[in-house]
Amino acid sequence: MKLKKIVLTGAAGRLGSYLREPLTALCDELVSTDLEDVGTCYPGERFMKADLASFDDMMAVIEGATMVIHMGAFVDEGPFEQLLGPNFIGSYNVWEAAYRTGARRVVYASSIHAVGMYDKNVCLDTEMPHRPDTFYGLAKCFSEDLGRMYWEKRGLESVHMRILSCASVNNPRSLGSYLSYDDLIQLVTRCIDTPVTGWAVVYGVSDNDRSPVDNTKAAFLGYRPKDNAEDFAQAVFAEMEAPLDPLDKTHMCHGGPFASVDLGNSGLAGLNVVDDRKKT
Ligand SMILES: NC(=O)c1ccc[n+]([C@@H]2O[C@H](COP(=O)([O-])OP(=O)(O)OC[C@H]3O[C@@H](n4cnc5c(N)ncnc54)[C@H](O)[C@@H]3O)[C@@H](O)[C@H]2O)c1
Repeated sequence: MKLKKIVLTGAAGRLGSYLREPLTALCDELVSTDLEDVGTCYPGERFMKADLASFDDMMAVIEGATMVIHMGAFVDEGPFEQLLGPNFIGSYNVWEAAYRTGARRVVYASSIHAVGMYDKNVCLDTEMPHRPDTFYGLAKCFSEDLGRMYWEKRGLESVHMRILSCASVNNPRSLGSYLSYDDLIQLVTRCIDTPVTGWAVVYGVSDNDRSPVDNTKAAFLGYRPKDNAEDFAQAVFAEMEAPLDPLDKTHMCHGGPFASVDLGNSGLAGLNVVDDRKKT
């Protein structure tokens, strides 16, 4: 069954660029929104420029939508004040506007950084208490709790995809944390087409041999990833110049470099993320 209207926030971003086209197949109208332009729209897609930090903007964009796929955010660690508008207030605006306009569900791009301070040798399931590694991770915890409260008090469903690393495999950490774009698309599709979800958490990770997380309790979503970072393991190990220090949180914690940076400092600076966003 096709939905009437889906809203995609963060549509101009890297992950949004891969989601836009497949999302048009699931609804009569996809409204893609961002502060940045998305370029040429796909058939069935309309772009609306809007600021997550503006409640009026979110009301205008979300009006009439059945579901909101909320990917927009400031995507790095930074000073709290930099994250407050897009990541904290932005989430409140999305949930409150979705509730007021009668939307059914929010599908949210949460992150491993909500639980980034756990040691890597602890396998994380979806019910582990939050242990954010940064203000960025704290905003993901806030949004997950916000979603739970809106479900329990107001009946607005939400699925929180704790994405690990949706980026090419070019370091030892990503052998466990890799999420391919095809698996991301399958995950978002399952979060939309699962008939009832209530409030749920699921890890966004491919079928990696070295995956450090456990999605058993989210099995009802039917997410069955197909890709495996092990295909890149020999190449990654060949590039390693020295053994990794197990006392360095960058290597020993789930959050990688976000676990070891001082609060307010970039975590992305420690990752070699290639901007390979899909062009329209
Ligand atoms: N890429 C990953 O591996 C990864 C991992 C975990 C979680 N996530 C989450 O997935 C989502 C998408 O990540 P991405 O890698 O595509 O990041 P991205 O930076 O490429 O995209 C984020 C988008 O949000 C938009 N945005 C920022 N502030 C805004 C505002 N005030 N109003 C409107 N739009 C605003 C930006 O313009 C950008 O287009 C984010 O929520 C991120 O936290 C990504």
